[in-house]
Amino acid sequence: MFPRRFLSLALLTAALPVAAWAEPALLPAPTSAVAGSGRLLVGPGTAIVVPAGDSGARNAAERLAEWMLAARGLKLAIATRATGPAIRFRRAAAGGAESYALDIGPRGATITAADDAGLLYGAVSLWQYLTPDREHGAVAVPAVSVKDAPRFRWRGLMLDSARHFQSPDYVRHLIDWMAVNKLNTLHWHLVDDQGWRLEIRKYPRLTEVSGWRVPATAPGAPPLPRNGGFYTQAQVREIVAYAARRNVTIVPEIEMPGHALSAIRAYPQLGTGAPVTPGAESDWGVFPWLYNVDDATFGFLEDVLTEVMALFPSHYIHVGGDEAVKDQWKASPAIQARMKALGIADEDRLQSWFVQRMQRFLAAHGRRLIGWDEILEGGIAPEATVMSWRGIDGAVAAARAGHDAVLSPSPALYLDNRQGFGPLEPPGRGNLIDLASVYRFDPAPAAIPAEARSHILGVQANLWTEHVRTEQRAAWMMFPRANALAEVAWSPGTGHDFAGFVARLVPQLDRMRALGLEPAASAFAVTTATDFTPGDPHAIVTLADQAGLPLRYTTDGSAPTTASPLYAGPLTLTLPTRLRAAAMFGERAMPGAFDATIDAAYVRRRSDEQLATCTDKVRLAVEDDAPAEGKRASFLTDILNPCWLYRDAPTGGARRIALTVGQFPFNFQIGKDIDNIRFRAPETPDGEFEVRAGSCDGERIAVLPLAPARGNPELTRLVAPLPPRAARETLCITYTARGVKPMWGLKQLELLP
Ligand code: ACM
Repeated sequence: MFPRRFLSLALLTAALPVAAWAEPALLPAPTSAVAGSGRLLVGPGTAIVVPAGDSGARNAAERLAEWMLAARGLKLAIATRATGPAIRFRRAAAGGAESYALDIGPRGATITAADDAGLLYGAVSLWQYLTPDREHGAVAVPAVSVKDAPRFRWRGLMLDSARHFQSPDYVRHLIDWMAVNKLNTLHWHLVDDQGWRLEIRKYPRLTEVSGWRVPATAPGAPPLPRNGGFYTQAQVREIVAYAARRNVTIVPEIEMPGHALSAIRAYPQLGTGAPVTPGAESDWGVFPWLYNVDDATFGFLEDVLTEVMALFPSHYIHVGGDEAVKDQWKASPAIQARMKALGIADEDRLQSWFVQRMQRFLAAHGRRLIGWDEILEGGIAPEATVMSWRGIDGAVAAARAGHDAVLSPSPALYLDNRQGFGPLEPPGRGNLIDLASVYRFDPAPAAIPAEARSHILGVQANLWTEHVRTEQRAAWMMFPRANALAEVAWSPGTGHDFAGFVARLVPQLDRMRALGLEPAASAFAVTTATDFTPGDPHAIVTLADQAGLPLRYTTDGSAPTTASPLYAGPLTLTLPTRLRAAAMFGERAMPGAFDATIDAAYVRRRSDEQLATCTDKVRLAVEDDAPAEGKRASFLTDILNPCWLYRDAPTGGARRIALTVGQFPFNFQIGKDIDNIRFRAPETPDGEFEVRAGSCDGERIAVLPLAPARGNPELTRLVAPLPPRAARETLCITYTARGVKPMWGLKQLELLP
C-alpha cells in the first residue's frame, strides 16, 4: 500500500497551486509573460483595428472575431481606426518567423508581429486571455506583456483519412483546433492499402474503385454497410485555403512503393502481377502489394504528384516509403530483370533508387521530398527529409548524416494508442500513451548530438485510424494529447510542470468545445482498483486520475462536490456501498466521474479493461463487427496470443464462472507471424473457452463450449460450474480453435455463487 498512498499524496501536492487556476494563462506556454497593472475591459463596443490594406492583419482579426463569437458570444467589429481602448494589430518591420508580442493594458491590447503567422498567433493568445472561463459577454483581462516565439517550426499532427474517412467538415474543425494551439502542420495521410481518398482527374478509378470498401466481418456474421468517401479537388482547394488562413500547412502523403494496394486494385498494371485477395482492402497491417518499377508506373506516380502539387502549395510532399516488404519484388521476374539491367544489387537499393527518382521529380518542381525513416535505407539524396517513426533512431541517423528530420516516434507520439483503460475508452492500440507521457516527451534527447539538433525541424503526433471508425473518436484520440504535443513543440524547455499544464488545459478545452471539440475525458476519469478477499465483508478501493487533480467522493449516493470528502488513500468500504467519485477542477467535477455500487457481484467481476493479457505482442482493443448501428463492444486482446489473466481472483466461495465473449474477424496482414498463433485443439465443433488455475499451464478448472455463441455476432454470456477453490487464485483464460477465423474476445469475467 505504501507506494500507492505515497503516489496519491504526491499527486495531490503537485496539484495544489489552486491560485493559478484563477489567472488566465496561455497554452502553449509563451516564452515570457510579465504581468502589468490594471485591466482591460473588452465588450461588444471594443473594436479590432487593422492597418489599412494589410490582408494578413485582417485575416488575424477575422479569426479573433470568429473565435470570440464562438467562445464568448461577443461580436467584435473590425475597423481601420478607432478611438479609445481597442485591440490593435501592428505590423513590425522585423522579427522571427511566427513570433509576436502582445501587450494588454487598460488602454487596449496591441499585437505586433512581422509575419502573418505571428499576427495570427498574437490573436490566438489574446483570445485565450479573453476567454478565461465559460462565461459569455464582456470580460476584464489583467494587463500583461507577452513575448513569444516557437521552439520548433514543424508542429504537426498526422490524420489518417485512408483507413477511415473523415468529412471535410471534420478536417476544417481539426484545423481550427490545431490553430488555437499554435500547431502549424497537418500531415494528411490520403492514400493507403485500404483507401484512396483524393480525386485524381487523370485516374478516376482510384476513387471509383478504392474510395469504398466493405468492412471485414467474422465468418457467418451479417455484412456491414460499405465504408468510405473521398475528397474532391474542389473540396481540397477549399480546405487548403481554410488551413492557410489559420497558418496550417497541409503536407499531403501519397504512399509508395508499399501501402499501394488501393492504387493496384484500381489499376492492376501498377503492381507486380501478384493477385489481389478479395476483401484484403479491409485488413489492417503490413501488406505485400508493391508498385512495380516500370516507366509507365513512374509516369502514373508523376501524374498523380503533378495534380497533388497543383492542389497543395506545401514545400514538403510526403511519399511514404514505410513498411514496403520486398517479397513481391523478390518473386517478380520482371522486377529482377529490371534490377539487373540497372545494376542494382538488392531490393533495398531498388527502393532507394525509386525514392530518389521521385525526389528528383519533386525537386524539379521546386518541392522537397519527405518520407518515413525507411527512406534512409539504401541511401537518400541530401535534400530529402526524414520523418522518424521507428523510435527516434531514424532522426538521429538522419540528423547525423545532415538530413532534416521530424520526430514522430512510435509509440510515444502515436495517438492510435489508447490513453487509458476503462469503459470510456474507444478501440485502439493497447500501449498506454497518456497525457503526461506526451507532455513529458523530450524533443531534444541526448541521443541527438548538439551539432545535429538544428536538423530537427520539430515534432509530430500521428493518428492512424484503423481502429478509429468515427470522427468523434478521432477527436477523442487526438485531444487533449495534441494540446500536450503543442506545448512540447512550441514552448521552451517543457515537461516539468504537469500540474501547471493541466491548470491551463481545462480552460483551453472549454474554449475548444466552443469550436466543436469533444475531447477525451481519459485524463480526468476516476479509475479504481478493488481488492477483496472472500469472506471479508469489506472491499478496499483505490482511486486515481491521470491529471493529478484532487478527487472527492461520496458513499451516500449524492454527486461529489467541493464539500465531499477529499480522497487521501485507499477506502475500506462495507459491501454493498454506492461509491461516487470525481476529479475536481476548482468547484467543478470533471467528466469521467465514477459511479458504481461496490457489492458482492462487483468485487468478483472483471472486464477486459481490468484483466491483463498474458503477453503483449500486438495488444489491441479491437471493435466487435456487430451491430451495424449503435454501440459495439471492444475486446482488449493480444491478437498474436488471445489469453487473459485474472490475477489473485477471489475464487473462494465461487460455484460458477461466467464469461461474456464475442467473435470478431481476423483481418490482419501479418505475413508469416500468423503461423505463430497457436491454439489448443477443440473438443467440440465450435471450440471452447478454458479456465486454468495458477498459470496458463495449470489445472483446467472450467470449460465453456462456444456452441451457444455460434451465429451470434454480438456478445454471448457463457456459464460453467467451478469446483471449490482456494480463497484467491490467478486464473488464465484461453480458448481452443482450429485457426484464427473467427477470433474470440473476452469482454467480462464473473465469479458467481
Ligand atoms: C508507420 O507507422 N508505418 C509510418
